[in-house]
Amino acid sequence: MEKFVIRGGKKLYGDINISGAKNAALAIIPAAVLCEDICRIENIPNIIDVNMMIKILEHLGARTSFVKPNVLEIDTKNIKAMAAVPDEMAQKLRASYYLLGAMLGRFGCASVAMPGGCFFGVRPIDQHVRGFELLGADISTKGAIISASAPKLIGASVYMDNVSVGATMNVMLAAVKAGGLTVIENAAKEPHIVDLANFLNSMGADVRGAGTDVIKIRGVNTLHGCTYSIIPDQIEAGTYMVAAAAAGGKITINNVIPKHLESISAKLIESGIEVIEGDDSVTVISNNGRPNKCIVKTMPHPGFPTDMQPQMAVLLSIADGTSYISESVWDNRFMYIEQLRRMGAKIQVDGKTATIEGVNTLLGAPVKADDLRAGAAMLIAGLIAKGETVVDNIHYIERGYENVVEKLSGIGANIVRVSVETGDKKVIAGVI
Ligand code: UD1
Repeated sequence: MEKFVIRGGKKLYGDINISGAKNAALAIIPAAVLCEDICRIENIPNIIDVNMMIKILEHLGARTSFVKPNVLEIDTKNIKAMAAVPDEMAQKLRASYYLLGAMLGRFGCASVAMPGGCFFGVRPIDQHVRGFELLGADISTKGAIISASAPKLIGASVYMDNVSVGATMNVMLAAVKAGGLTVIENAAKEPHIVDLANFLNSMGADVRGAGTDVIKIRGVNTLHGCTYSIIPDQIEAGTYMVAAAAAGGKITINNVIPKHLESISAKLIESGIEVIEGDDSVTVISNNGRPNKCIVKTMPHPGFPTDMQPQMAVLLSIADGTSYISESVWDNRFMYIEQLRRMGAKIQVDGKTATIEGVNTLLGAPVKADDLRAGAAMLIAGLIAKGETVVDNIHYIERGYENVVEKLSGIGANIVRVSVETGDKKVIAGVI
């Protein structure tokens, strides 16, 4: 069993480079299925979820290879029309559902098992299904398998009842080769929606308006291969920004799009942290003791991202005063609070609101990652805590953070990845 061991209390100094965006890669890799050609995708993060998505494409008949680190070539000529994504693969990641839209768009039929992913309450896919149906697909389920088929998809007006990242992207995938015009209204506006649209347009699609709440897609007959570079990961960057804010010090985070980080920067500045934007970097300086209390509400983009909520809770757990976080995207995203309480945090949860009474410091403890971002929060908590924190369930963290030990060690954190056999810890990455 592998764990992270962190000795807290060290300030963070230096530079850190951000990897390609997980949630963009997880939509763009399946999007390559839409052409019958070779796509070269750069800035692919080397993380568990992305590697699983590549395995799924190979299972469908694609040939893939890393021609350089983080540069993936996908040849989709030999994908089989009737290939299905089996349960054991779909269960491993939420984004497996993008194969429904992509296979439906290319072949007019798709078969994918119900997706898995991090648990933070009920995660319905009704908006995906409704979108496919409006484009003319028949949807059926048999056991865990969802099948979609359409003799010919026809463009339609799709109004999303919920602002959903997944449903917006899935309908985009199904619509790019449909006949005529598809208009997605109340679309999600996250940076990875724009990235997917740019990738599709590089393949010859006609997608306009991504990044606003109305996306117009005029169907084209064929798509071709292309070379494309994925945007930097907004949430990875935000996680390191909050880490520096909480632990203290000064770090420069490179290879970012500062505009994507505005909602996070705004809350850090409100907490008394200095944030300096460069062209493709942000510098975070935190030297003034405890952060100020603040009120955070998660919202779809451009609001404060739900995927930064657990990390922000750690920062506010040592704030001067009482802070409030309300989670408006997911029903059940405070499960990790119990772990923070083990470290001395004073947090009460009432429904979708957490009340955080700031304490002077956290204390190291054995904790576990309940999901990907909850795991990131445990890392930050370990960095600020007195003594040793041992984080279990680290596979969740490695689903979404590339080289996390190396990156944190590079800015001075005391973190190692250990393998634990019968109580003995053997260091396998990082230096104590
Ligand atoms: C994506 C991200 C996830 C992030 C979330 C919100 C990926 C792989 N995951 O998840 O990290 O936390 O966006 O920014 O990109 N909903 C419905 N019906 C649907 C779909 C969604 O009611 O058919 C609801 C959900 O229950 C939730 C809200 O819409 O309350 C947002 O969900 P959505 O944006 O779809 O999240 P994901 O795409 O699953």
